[in-house]
Amino acid sequence: MAVKRRPIIAGNWKMNLTHLEAIQVVQKLSYSLDKKDYDATEVVVCPPFTALRSIQTVLEADRIPIRLGAQNCHWEEAGAFTGEVSPTMLAKLQVTYVICGHSERRHVFGEDYATVNRKVLAVIAHGMTPILCVGETVEQRDAGETESVVRSQLSAGLQKVDAAAVPTLVVAYEPVWAIGTGRNAEPTDANEVIAHIRAEVDSLFPGSGEEVRVQYGGSVKSGNIASFMEQPGIDGALVGGASLDPEEFARIVRYR
Ligand code: PGA
Repeated sequence: MAVKRRPIIAGNWKMNLTHLEAIQVVQKLSYSLDKKDYDATEVVVCPPFTALRSIQTVLEADRIPIRLGAQNCHWEEAGAFTGEVSPTMLAKLQVTYVICGHSERRHVFGEDYATVNRKVLAVIAHGMTPILCVGETVEQRDAGETESVVRSQLSAGLQKVDAAAVPTLVVAYEPVWAIGTGRNAEPTDANEVIAHIRAEVDSLFPGSGEEVRVQYGGSVKSGNIASFMEQPGIDGALVGGASLDPEEFARIVRYR
């Protein structure tokens, strides 16, 4: 029997919006969405750390069923790690999802496989769900290495993860060359890579490959979201730039 996976569309605001601007964006977004939208799709926003508390308060006070996500976290609970934010702190803010191994973390901030794995383990240990990002650079794609790159990012990222936690995980397939470039992947290509992602998850954790939700990310907008969502293996999107405009992000959520 085919597994029914709930669509999940997440906005990654990156290093944008003050907490005051963030409140406005989430309020406008909530005015554009209704119960039907939330029933059909899980909606997530990932503000910068400085806006998490404000957004959490707005969501709670107005009973808005948008889930809160963080863009990163440290793996330790507390300690001498100047400038870092711990999973304990995020869990207390009712953060549900934490993006782990985003390509900007990997490529701009030098996060290696072991670091991403520590974060994944810490997020799960604190009752939150990682959105584990994988994806190849343009050089790797041109060299025919896409499949091997995403497979090694997955096997490293999921090391020592409790098998019971795997079916609830979210993986985001984000080809690096498609992020912030306006040049999205072909939906059928993305679907093919995602089939390899499921195969790798399944070989690491038998039975889980069809359970994990896999998003596509990279230049998603209202004009192309439907073409991704109609692919059988794609369960949602991780949206950067287009999620900063609440009307546009609402159109993406209402892709049907
Ligand atoms: P983009 O970013 O939608 O602006 O391409 C996607 C991401 O980085 O998650």
